[in-house]
Amino acid sequence: MSLRPILIHPDPRLKKVCAPVAEITPEIRALARDMLETMYDAPGVGLAAPQVGVLQRLFVMDCVKEEGADPRPMVLINPEITWASEETAAYEEGCLSIPEQYAEVRRPLQVQMRWTDLEGATQEAAFDGLWATCAQHELDHLDGKLFIDHLGPIKRQLITRRMVKLKRERARAG
Ligand code: NI
Repeated sequence: MSLRPILIHPDPRLKKVCAPVAEITPEIRALARDMLETMYDAPGVGLAAPQVGVLQRLFVMDCVKEEGADPRPMVLINPEITWASEETAAYEEGCLSIPEQYAEVRRPLQVQMRWTDLEGATQEAAFDGLWATCAQHELDHLDGKLFIDHLGPIKRQLITRRMVKLKRERARAG
């Protein structure tokens, strides 16, 4: 297992619509393991493949927050929403590709998702609370959409300018 570098916005690879995973290969299994390790290390509750530069439809998440609770690592391949509640909720979101920037985003309160697991089996589950927010945020990544794309243009441009500055500082620090 190894940590993979996380791309920071703005990056053209974060704006691409990702391709479906055609087959669960050893490379896909290794990618999923690395993504989970990278997500826990960050730390974060979700990470999508394009955030590590792989333009394929796959994300990982674990939204267990309770102290001492067992982790619940999930790998969702070719995920799709099969149902979304009419009721919405606003949560403060962040993103490992947009460090230390947070904003409220309104999304359906509950979603039902269908995906393929690492064994190639079809899975379906309902998510709510933080799990629902995270699953929708990560699915957005697979369509080249970031949480700041849900904000107004002024807020989005402000955050993007901060990220450009951050990347410049990091490049200079080498
Ligand atoms: Ni994100």
